[in-house]
Amino acid sequence: MKFFIDTANLEHIREAVDMGVLDGVTTNPSLMAKEGIREVRSHYRRIAEMVPDVSAEVLATDYNGIVAEGRDLASIHEHITVKIPMIKDGVKAIRTLSEEGIRINCTLIFSPVQALIAAKAGARYVSPFLGRLDDIGHEGMQLVEEIRLIFDNYAFNTEILAASIRHVEHLRSAALVGADIATMPFAVIEKMLKHPLTDRGLEAFLADAKRNG
Ligand code: E4P
Repeated sequence: MKFFIDTANLEHIREAVDMGVLDGVTTNPSLMAKEGIREVRSHYRRIAEMVPDVSAEVLATDYNGIVAEGRDLASIHEHITVKIPMIKDGVKAIRTLSEEGIRINCTLIFSPVQALIAAKAGARYVSPFLGRLDDIGHEGMQLVEEIRLIFDNYAFNTEILAASIRHVEHLRSAALVGADIATMPFAVIEKMLKHPLTDRGLEAFLADAKRNG
């Protein structure tokens, strides 16, 4: 399973890279705004120099605009993946850009058939948003399970990028149902390491070692 961090914060990305377990970064317009990024191109370039894969989202919503913006984003760095929302013009643009060899992450996936159409159009990744489905009382993980089944039924090699991950339990379930990638906030990466019995056990080991020596 690949681990991506869901942020535009360079310090968090650096810290996650230094842990040695990070495979990529996802951003979105809200995350870029949260960091107050104005120079979008140079920010994406800096991230792309740190990790092998960074999703940069288009803002256009019409076919010509998405294609032009997608080509422009992809030209920033070879590590850029163009993130395109699941809309009709987006699907058309996924077909065009993926045929040009541009890696596409189809975002805002909330149903298995949306994932199916994105995969047919040639997306490299589909991003089901688990947390946002949970927020409205649905079972986000069921979506990942169904997409996994569909992709396996038809041998699609589009990867499932479990997104909108809010806590460690989301990550555990996403791994159990076979998501290829999980993108998560820095806080979740940090929490993954934690278990109270680990802390208690280490404390006891160190205390015993001190008594001995
Ligand atoms: C994924 O690519 C999105 O950036 C992200 O996971 C959305 O998460 P949120 O629902 O917590 O905003």
